Amino acid sequence: MPAKKPHVIVTRKLPDIVETRMMELFDCRLSLDDHPMTREELTAAVQQADVLVPTVTDRIDAELIAEAGPRLRLIASFGTGTDHIDLAAARAKGVTVTNTPGVLTEDTADMTMALILAATRRLVEGERLVRRGKWQGWGPTLMLGQRLGGKRLGIVGMGRIGQAVAKRARGFGLSIHYHNRRRVPEAIEQELEATYWESLDQMLARMDVISVNCPHTPATFHLLSARRLKLLRPQCVLVNTSRGEVIDEEALTRMLVAHEIAGAGLDVYEREPAISPKLLRLENVVLLPHMGSATLEGRIDMGEKVIINIKTFTDGHRPPDRVIEGVA
Ligand code: 8YV
Repeated sequence: MPAKKPHVIVTRKLPDIVETRMMELFDCRLSLDDHPMTREELTAAVQQADVLVPTVTDRIDAELIAEAGPRLRLIASFGTGTDHIDLAAARAKGVTVTNTPGVLTEDTADMTMALILAATRRLVEGERLVRRGKWQGWGPTLMLGQRLGGKRLGIVGMGRIGQAVAKRARGFGLSIHYHNRRRVPEAIEQELEATYWESLDQMLARMDVISVNCPHTPATFHLLSARRLKLLRPQCVLVNTSRGEVIDEEALTRMLVAHEIAGAGLDVYEREPAISPKLLRLENVVLLPHMGSATLEGRIDMGEKVIINIKTFTDGHRPPDRVIEGVA
């Protein structure tokens, strides 16, 4: 007799190929209509499942984990960031948490470059001008942006994604600067010709472009605080493809309104999917709907990682992408 398949509940619609494989391997409940689960639905899911597969749109906090049934042993999150999960509560409840690192690095770095280009070269503003029928022809001073070549890019968070951004940015002639909790190995610094700034404040005050690429943790919440944002130069452009919570969004909005910085490119927000109406009215900010890693290939790779994590765990081994292991 084959062993009973684990009951896996997936909170959102995943690519067909991933869902089909999950159905083959597990006793799987898929999301039929892709709506983000309500609190009640999530509670029922953690009570019934052996394995929960949530995404960034599910808040897996301590109260929810306290409601989990005795069967729940693994939260195999579909995504890299784990700030939507209370890891300490999961560990204490004996629930292991895995994520999907590495497979969305390049896509997110591509989108970061796209936002840097869009914000400095006023790409979306130009597109809006054309679509509104307001374009009256070429002009020597029309839609002037900022040249990237020769400028300084300051990367906040030099992990996998930060380094992938640095590689691309060098091709555009940007010089690379970074701030990170820990200095990266010398070989990487040399390869990227990257300058390390121990002081984030000092780096911020000297850059032309800032890219936020650090995870959201208690230590990075509002890392770019109102005080720090004030250090930016007026010609600076700020791009965020990480998490909205890393920037004080209110303060950033005030500065964009007052033209105290040149522009911003945001893929993530403090209260997603809510976006401040003030931001929506501004021309000098490019706003994307958290799509930094949204490629079909990336989503399939993420799904494969989720499957491997579930399969190894339920076969009695340590899954490769452990964020924390349950202790109970
Ligand atoms: C994912 C992300 O699409 O993986 C992450 O941390 O921010 C996104 O790119 C999303 O989190 C999926 O849950």
